[in-house]
Amino acid sequence: MAIDGKVLAITGASSGIGRATALMLARGGAKVVLGARREDALRTLAADISSAGGEAAWQATDVTRRADLQNLVELACTRFGRLDVLISNAGIGPISPIDELRVDDWQAMVEVNMLGVLYGIAAALPVFRRQGAGHFINVISTSGLRIVSPQGIYAGTKNAVRTITEALRQEAGPHLRVSEISPGMVATDFAASIQHPATRAAIGRQVEEIGLAPEAVAGAIAFVVDQPPEVDVNSIVIRPTAQN
Ligand SMILES: NC(=O)c1ccc[n+]([C@@H]2O[C@H](COP(=O)([O-])OP(=O)(O)OC[C@H]3O[C@@H](n4cnc5c(N)ncnc54)[C@H](OP(=O)(O)O)[C@@H]3O)[C@@H](O)[C@H]2O)c1
Repeated sequence: MAIDGKVLAITGASSGIGRATALMLARGGAKVVLGARREDALRTLAADISSAGGEAAWQATDVTRRADLQNLVELACTRFGRLDVLISNAGIGPISPIDELRVDDWQAMVEVNMLGVLYGIAAALPVFRRQGAGHFINVISTSGLRIVSPQGIYAGTKNAVRTITEALRQEAGPHLRVSEISPGMVATDFAASIQHPATRAAIGRQVEEIGLAPEAVAGAIAFVVDQPPEVDVNSIVIRPTAQN
C-alpha cells in the first residue's frame, strides 16, 4: 500500500474525522503527526496508536496561528525526516441565520476554516517543493455544494477553500498532489459548536438520524493517499445515502 511509511500531518486530529483518519492511516503503516488544541486528546490518541504498533507524534496546534502550523510541519520533518501529506481537516461550524448577526461566529469560521487552511499551505508548500513531492488534502463540505440556509457563512468559508484548492492544484505542477474531500453529515462533535439553539437542535437531529460514521470519511481520505504518485484524486464527495 502507498500509505505504508508515509508521513502525514493532520489538523483537527483530536476528534471526529481527524481522529478516525489518524487511526486508520496509522494502522495502514503511516507515521502520523497530530495537531489540534486539546492536548489530552492528542496525547491519548498518540498513545493508542503507539500501543497498537504504529508511530505518532503530536503537538498542540491552533490553526488560527501561522506559527503553530509551521511548528507542526517542522515536527514531521524533525521526527520523521519529511512530510508527505498535509490533511487540513480542522474546522468549526457555529452556523446560524444571517439575520442573527453573530459576527464573532462568522469571524471564527473565517479564521479556522479558511485562514487555518492557508497557514497549512504556507507551512507545507516550501517543504513539498524542496522534496519534489507532497500532497495537500483539504476537508471541505457538501454545505458548499448544495447551499442550505442557515449554513451560508460556513458554506462560504468552505467554498473559499474549494476555490483555493483548485488554484493550488493548477499551480502545483507535475509533482505535487492536491485533493479535496467534501463530506456530508457525519456523526461527530461538530454540532457542539453551534450556538443558535434551533439550528443546533435541527442539525443534531439530522446527524443522529443519518450521519455517517467518521470512519467512512477516513476511508475516502485513505483511498486518496493510497494512490500511486502519478494519480491525483482531486475531489471526493461522500454523503449519507439519505441526505438530499
Ligand atoms: N461532521 C460533519 O457533518 C461534517 C460535514 C462536512 C464537513 N465537515 C468538516 O470536517 C472537519 C472535521 O470536523 P468533524 O466533523 O470531525 O468535527 P469535530 O469532531 O468537531 O472535529 C473538529 C476538529 O477541529 C479541531 N479544531 C477546531 N478549531 C481548531 C483550531 N482553532 N485549531 C486547531 N484545531 C481546531 C478540533 O480540535 P480542538 O478542539 O482540540 O482544537 C477537532 O479536532 C471540519 O473541517 C468540518 O467542517 C464535517
